[in-house]
Amino acid sequence: MDSHLEDLFSFLRFPSISTASEHASDVRACAEWLQQKLTNMGLNTELHPTSGHPVVVARNAHRADRKTVLIYGHYDVQPVDPIELWDTDPFEPVLKDERIWARGATDNKGQMMAHVLGVEKTLKEQGELPVNLIFLFEGEEEIGSPNLVPFLEQHREELACDIIAVSDTGMVARGVPTMGYGLRGITCCEVTVRGPKGDLHSGVYGGAVANPATAVARLVASLHDADGRIAIDGFYDDVKPLEQWERDMWAQVPGVSDADIADQTGVCEVFGEPGYSSAERLWARPTAEVNGIGSGYQGEGSKTVLPAEAMAKFSFRLVPNQDPQDIAKKVEAHLNKHAPQGVCVEVEAGHDGKPYYADPNSPFGQAAQGALQQAFGATPVLIREGGSIPIIKDMQDVLGSDTLLLGLALPDCQIHAPNENFWVENFESGIQMNQILLQELAKV
Ligand code: BES
Ligand code: MN
Repeated sequence: MDSHLEDLFSFLRFPSISTASEHASDVRACAEWLQQKLTNMGLNTELHPTSGHPVVVARNAHRADRKTVLIYGHYDVQPVDPIELWDTDPFEPVLKDERIWARGATDNKGQMMAHVLGVEKTLKEQGELPVNLIFLFEGEEEIGSPNLVPFLEQHREELACDIIAVSDTGMVARGVPTMGYGLRGITCCEVTVRGPKGDLHSGVYGGAVANPATAVARLVASLHDADGRIAIDGFYDDVKPLEQWERDMWAQVPGVSDADIADQTGVCEVFGEPGYSSAERLWARPTAEVNGIGSGYQGEGSKTVLPAEAMAKFSFRLVPNQDPQDIAKKVEAHLNKHAPQGVCVEVEAGHDGKPYYADPNSPFGQAAQGALQQAFGATPVLIREGGSIPIIKDMQDVLGSDTLLLGLALPDCQIHAPNENFWVENFESGIQMNQILLQELAKV
């Protein structure tokens, strides 16, 4: 275990923040370290430059009589701010209270390294793997994988595989192995509301000129009805209805009751679309979220100003069979239709990604459930995920292969937040799970 932790710590020390251009050389150094690690394990490796951050591919010697398994992960991480809320340096990993604390510890370096080290261990123990393996690691997942879809298209043949495995999702509770068979999609946009040509004295002009901050608040409020249903025309048209077997199954999943969700998040009560449990709202229903809103004076005391502008950033989590571009159009139409009088509303589209769904009980799905059962010594639960990994649906479309989502993140891992951490027990189980998984997939 010591050498496993050493490898993970070295990987975590790179501040591979993909969104920050000043960290571009750190992202590259991280990719080079990863390539070296995979080369040292005896794999054939390639580092592909892109117009953004590099893609690292590694493979063993493939044989025609074996199954081909692609394992995807990402070595880029989210920014660390607010830095003052971290108890330790985000890029100097520490082991404390049975967990590894660092940015990327769970999302995704720790989960990804569990696969790498599982493969290393099998190669050391057996001299070879039971399958043809392709590792595909990118440095742009946290910014929407802009260069990976073209990469998939260009390398369709080399990346062809029978099944894909990814550990970049969650476990519902400690000791409860969790297999995901769905992910929400996403579409983002930003709205700018413009009023007067510059800030105005709110006494001299207030009452005769519309206030952009009021207008943006009205737009934000227009997205939902009072019960929490999304009020955009046609928004739910293509939503695949929840099936009874899923509702029954999810009602038995531990760690996701309304009380659990309230406890994990610290809210006084849960809230959402009527007629659905929290798990159903998270895994099978779409959302409209405000991620940021701004206008006017934010400093100490008061300032009597009528602000010239206001803005809000939105993201919409989507479920099968919603199409991100179709939803983006409906959102834009809604915002224009609800534009309050006296202001100009401008909508700018952002990045998007499609929702994903696959049969959890396919032969490969059953093999993965068996591997989880053996590695964790408990029966796995089957869930969909609230989060998004847009490339998973793209891989289904371009490569024609489904993905097994074998998450190792716990609800208290604080991904994207200060004090991100990864349970050592999940790192160890993840390494073992990889070893058993490849054996089980080989038998399908
Ligand atoms: N690993 C997460 C996604 C995730 C987390 C799925 C937990 C399920 C459970 C991934 O790195 C992520 O953060 N994705 C972004 C995608 C976006 C930037 C397109 C997300 O979901 O916000
Ligand atoms: Mn993430």
